[in-house]
Amino acid sequence: MIIAIDGPAASGKGTLARKLADHFGLPHLDTGLLYRATARALIDAGERLDDAASAVAAARGLALTEFDEARLRGRAMGEAASVVAAIPAVRATLAAAQRGFALRPEGAVLDGRDIGTVICPEADVKIFVTASPQTRAQRRALELAGRDEPADYAAILEDIRIRDERDSTRAIAPLRAAPDAHALDTTALDVEGAFAAALRFVPAGRR
Ligand code: CDP
Repeated sequence: MIIAIDGPAASGKGTLARKLADHFGLPHLDTGLLYRATARALIDAGERLDDAASAVAAARGLALTEFDEARLRGRAMGEAASVVAAIPAVRATLAAAQRGFALRPEGAVLDGRDIGTVICPEADVKIFVTASPQTRAQRRALELAGRDEPADYAAILEDIRIRDERDSTRAIAPLRAAPDAHALDTTALDVEGAFAAALRFVPAGRR
């Protein structure tokens, strides 16, 4: 079974994906980490984020298992990832790794921006997770504070607005719900509530 989860920044898709993966005993891929790691490799090499040739080389060179999540999940890397993610050749390079992951015999849970539309249009279950920008900014502020990263609510809200706009309007694989995705608004839901709602989207015989 392939479960595809998409949605904007800090909508709760990562937490939901991890819980569904645990529940079904499936491997989980947070595809945002691939874009974040590509951005980090460029920054570490002193290259520009919008240099397509360098960005593709960085994407090709990723070691999928060696992610230093603490640095990758920081605020700066989310913003940088969204610049790199708008380069079509970077997306094509990272798509192959994501499809390979999804085609594991037991299935997989993937979360990102274009899983249900581009990476796994054949997914058995597609969920498009949203929440109000204010709720998402609050969640991200708590998450960053938990990792001792300075977390100014207003700045985070602005980050989220800029990133939503860039991710939704880019020419290739924009952030968009697949026509057959189930919409899940988590604004008023806690983690368990979102998980319970998501389980209802899985066909009864497979829960
Ligand atoms: O956790 P958060 O939602 O803030 O970010 P993320 O999922 O780690 O994604 C970081 C950035 O990578 C996004 O803003 C997108 O620009 C890009 N991304 C993408 O284009 N396609 C994906 N499948 C996943 C992430």
